[in-house]
Amino acid sequence: MFAWPGPALYVHRCGGALAPENTLAGLNIAGRLGCAAVEFDVMLSADGVPIVIHDETLERTAGRQGRVSRMAAAELLAVDVGQAFHPAFRGETLPSFESVLAACAGLSLVANVEIKPAQGFEVETGRVVGDMLVRREHGVDVLLSSFSAEALEAAAQRAPHLPRALLTETYSTVAQARALQLGCGGLNLGRRGLLPEHVRQATAAGLHVLVYTVNDAPEAARLRAWGVTGVFSDRPDLIR
Ligand code: G3P
Ligand code: MG
Repeated sequence: MFAWPGPALYVHRCGGALAPENTLAGLNIAGRLGCAAVEFDVMLSADGVPIVIHDETLERTAGRQGRVSRMAAAELLAVDVGQAFHPAFRGETLPSFESVLAACAGLSLVANVEIKPAQGFEVETGRVVGDMLVRREHGVDVLLSSFSAEALEAAAQRAPHLPRALLTETYSTVAQARALQLGCGGLNLGRRGLLPEHVRQATAAGLHVLVYTVNDAPEAARLRAWGVTGVFSDRPDLIR
């Protein structure tokens, strides 16, 4: 069982800048670098299967048209997201949540599962992710998070034992209060505009703070000195 404070470094979107985002190739690189934890994004296909992908559409990562919430899992799982990143990764396809969890188990990686619902599917996505984590004997330490309080609440109803964090781009006392109301152990914050007093206020309220996205070592050290528990990074090779 994952216990706060947890790891100090989460590889952002599985592989950060070192591999196509949210892929098994990225996870393997994180594993080879000796990282302890990864973060990835989970969204539902049209037939309700959780898929690991950040955007609601395929344009940016696959260079083709397609909307995740309107495509069946079988079709999504065949989409090449390697080639658009670098030809060396051609053939790397979108992974299922299930396969990423299995890979995390194999590599002993802590998994920060960011529930990333397509608009209008907040509760459904939270429920599916929560149910799957309860049902499955995956043997992975999981931290749940989401920008969507609705999705996080739905997941927490299904998997109340799992530690969770509310994500918000900028600190506010309202977000902090919402995180506490949702029974979160953490508040995950964007780096831009973050001040030491924000970290102080959140930690004084009993919340751990994880910050995204931090790509150099001095910056990570500065945030640690502010009392930040951990950071998400695209460059785990630099700040490990
Ligand atoms: O969970 C931290 C970070 O992943 C949040 O931003 O847009 O990369 O999912 P995003
Ligand atoms: Mg994310």
